[in-house]
Amino acid sequence: MRAGIIGIGSYMPDRIISNWDLEKIVDTSNEWISERTGISYRRKAESDTCSSDLGAQAAMLAIKDANLCPEDIDLILLASSSPDHIFPATACIIQSKIGAKNAAAFDIQAACTGFIYALTTADQYIVGGLYKNILVVGSEVLSKVTDWEDRNTCVLFGDGAGAVVLSNVKDGGVISSVLGSDGSGSGLLELPAGGSKEPANFNTVKNRRHYIKMSGNEVFKFAVKVFEDCTKKVVKRADLSLEDVDFIIPHQANIRIIDAAIKRLKYPRERVVLNLDKYGNMSAASIPVALNEAFRDGRINKGHKIMLVGFGAGLTWGANLIEWNL
Ligand code: UT7
Repeated sequence: MRAGIIGIGSYMPDRIISNWDLEKIVDTSNEWISERTGISYRRKAESDTCSSDLGAQAAMLAIKDANLCPEDIDLILLASSSPDHIFPATACIIQSKIGAKNAAAFDIQAACTGFIYALTTADQYIVGGLYKNILVVGSEVLSKVTDWEDRNTCVLFGDGAGAVVLSNVKDGGVISSVLGSDGSGSGLLELPAGGSKEPANFNTVKNRRHYIKMSGNEVFKFAVKVFEDCTKKVVKRADLSLEDVDFIIPHQANIRIIDAAIKRLKYPRERVVLNLDKYGNMSAASIPVALNEAFRDGRINKGHKIMLVGFGAGLTWGANLIEWNL
């Protein structure tokens, strides 16, 4: 028995922020942002919207797509770098918002690799037999933890949510997974304050310590390396080769990271799903949103072998190789 995706949905806030809008806020230019990152637009949630709101919308679409009701869900896993609170888990808030009254719920913190970690966890619960229907959500309102005075980061991130329902399937499903971490790089990409190490106080606010900080160059080099490594590992673990993979759906951080990695892998760009020009980096939401778009526009079909690849803060990385069920 395998675990497969039997429903998928995504939900994006309406408000669009363009590179030209950002030119009015910080010292940047459309040319710099599009050349260095590939991003042109990103979405921004309204001020009264949080990650559980976007996540609940995406979750309902995925559950409907699976022809299930919220009561059929046994477990909710939520991956987010911008959860509603430190606690309670945003997964529990989504559980209440969608009325999944029979579900256990918890959050997974693996930053931009969060969706891969959550999908891998769900796969193991299903294969192990404890749960049948698991909702996996990646949801971000990064605009609320972005420093809109810092041009190094504010041009990169966007808001949005994607969700899948996994269940036991006879054919297809998750073939192999790879996860990794290296906490020695934890300072390279972080939201420093608000936890027990650097609790919120006047100084943490004054020094803007409640916003994302990133050493872009180091993270860039790390990302290219782990992208290549874990892609090779996950196909090897499945006893397949990269030619067998119909589409790669990478975390949408920077077009130059993706191009450098697929060049090393000698993988054709036309089989890589990209949407970062429209949405920027949506951390844990970027992979499920791109997956849903490629499915809805007809690129991904039943039987296709799909590789999901993520990397990000922690440092963390991971990949899933799946045979598409829908
Ligand atoms: O999602 C989790 C994983 N995240 C990532 O994978 C992101 C990884 N990193 C990156 O994508 C890239 O490193 C960035 C897009 C963040 C930065 O690109 P870069 O080519 O590495 O630029 P840089 O940091 O080396 O900066 C080059 C120059 C600097 O100026 P000087 O020091 O050369 O005079 C920056 O100050 O570009 C400047 N700069 C900007 N200029 C205009 C940095 N941000 C901007 C900006 N507009 N928004």
